[in-house]
Amino acid sequence: MKMIAMTLVAAVGLVATSVASAQDALAKSSGCLNCHAVDTKKMGPAFKDVAAKYKGKADAEATLETKISSGKGHPAVKASADDVKSLVKWVLSM
Ligand code: HEC
Repeated sequence: MKMIAMTLVAAVGLVATSVASAQDALAKSSGCLNCHAVDTKKMGPAFKDVAAKYKGKADAEATLETKISSGKGHPAVKASADDVKSLVKWVLSM
C-alpha cells in the first residue's frame, strides 16, 4: 500500500514538471523569453512580478490575453490566441 502511494506521488510530480517545462518551451518558442524572464526584469517585467500585480483580480486573465494578443500596450507577439491564453494562465500561476 505504501509503495503504491509513493509511486503515485512520484507520478504526479512528473506530470507537474512536464507541464511547467512545456509552457516554458512555448514561452521560448513564442519569443516571450527574449523580453521576459520568470524571476528577473529584462525588457519586460518578471513573470513572477506580473503574477503578484494581478493576484486576486478576477479579470486578470482576460485583460492580459487582450493586451498581449492585440498588440496594444504590449509589443506584438507571434503566438496564436490559444498559445497566449495558455501562457497567460502559466504566468498568473506563478
Ligand atoms: C519585444 C519584447 C517583448 C516580447 C517579445 C514579449 N513581451 Fe511581454 N512585455 C514587454 C514589455 C516591455 C512589457 C511592459 C509593458 C507592458 O506592461 O505592456 C511587457 C509586459 C508583459 C506582461 C504584463 C502586462 C501588464 O499589464 O502588467 C505580460 C503578462 C507579458 N508581457 C507577457 C508576454 C508573453 C506571454 C509574451 C510571449 C507571447 C510576451 N510578453 C512577449 C515586452 C515583450
